[in-house]
Amino acid sequence: MSEIKSIGIVGAGQMGRGIAQVAAQTGYNVFLYDLNQESLDFGHNFIKKQLDRGVSKEKWTQQDADAAWAKMTATLKLEDLSTADLIVEAATENKQIKFEIFKKLDQMAKPEAILASNTSSISITEIAAQTNRPTQVCGMHFMNPVPVMKLVEGISGLETSKEVFDRVAACAEKMGKVFVRAKDMPGFAVNRILMPMINEAVYTLHEGIASVEDIDTAMKLGTNQPMGPLTLADFIGLDTCLAIMEVLFEGLSDTKYRPCPLLKQYVSAGRLGRKSGKGFYDYGDK
Ligand code: CAA
Repeated sequence: MSEIKSIGIVGAGQMGRGIAQVAAQTGYNVFLYDLNQESLDFGHNFIKKQLDRGVSKEKWTQQDADAAWAKMTATLKLEDLSTADLIVEAATENKQIKFEIFKKLDQMAKPEAILASNTSSISITEIAAQTNRPTQVCGMHFMNPVPVMKLVEGISGLETSKEVFDRVAACAEKMGKVFVRAKDMPGFAVNRILMPMINEAVYTLHEGIASVEDIDTAMKLGTNQPMGPLTLADFIGLDTCLAIMEVLFEGLSDTKYRPCPLLKQYVSAGRLGRKSGKGFYDYGDK
């Protein structure tokens, strides 16, 4: 089983930049790709700030931060990822976009390279079917914020080989994460459980059972969650929560997964949570 030494990351957004930071700090050679110069620069600079912040908070030394920074190459050319042993795709959560990326990655990545997706809900089996190497494709679902959250949910597609899945598990563990294995079914394990809880919190609000603040306080103090479910929904993005509920509803053909009408209405109104400045709470900073 050959060791993974270099990692390519597609997408320098919130998830991609977090994965790139942790991978570089683990000692992997990292190639961070984005198709847009502005997004690439923003993601790359954000990592620099996070590394510096860690030094000032005495989480790691300046030498560690410099070593991680030196391991990272930011690029606008997808071909620069062609030498990577593992490529983790963390692009927009859109089926067609991901399919196109995997077709391209399959063409340019070295034949033995593993291709992983950070998707939170799109079928790994379908993504793998876009390539000529479905045994070497799997899900590697990091949680937000990546540097803080300990979990990587691994998803094996129908054709994913055990050897490939084990190599990806070893890589996640080397990054200090706990790797939990899930099968490729709608929502996998985490979102199969998390999203219905968030959706039910929205129903609780919609039906006037409790206020936004009281729902969050009840769940924070009553079940020891670090964030209440509505705060968490704003943090994840209400559009993302809705998209995942729709995947569960359609994929599992069960009405218990129907998205709450209030969630749909907020998304239609552009209330997407933190990223748009307003969701269940008003952030007033955007
Ligand atoms: N990047 C890096 N570090 C971050 C960070 C970020 N975006 N946000 C917070 N941190 C760090 C802080 O620097 C701090 O580190 P130190 O203790 O070493 O100083 C630590 O996290 C705690 O942060 P804060 O004190 O500012 O705030 P907090 O105690 O309220 O924690 C939180 C913030 C970690 C986000 C916490 O509220 C939490 O765990 N929330 C739940 C997050 C969660 O459930 N994420 C999963 C979402 S689901 C998902 O991602 C998958 C999906 O498919 C939808």
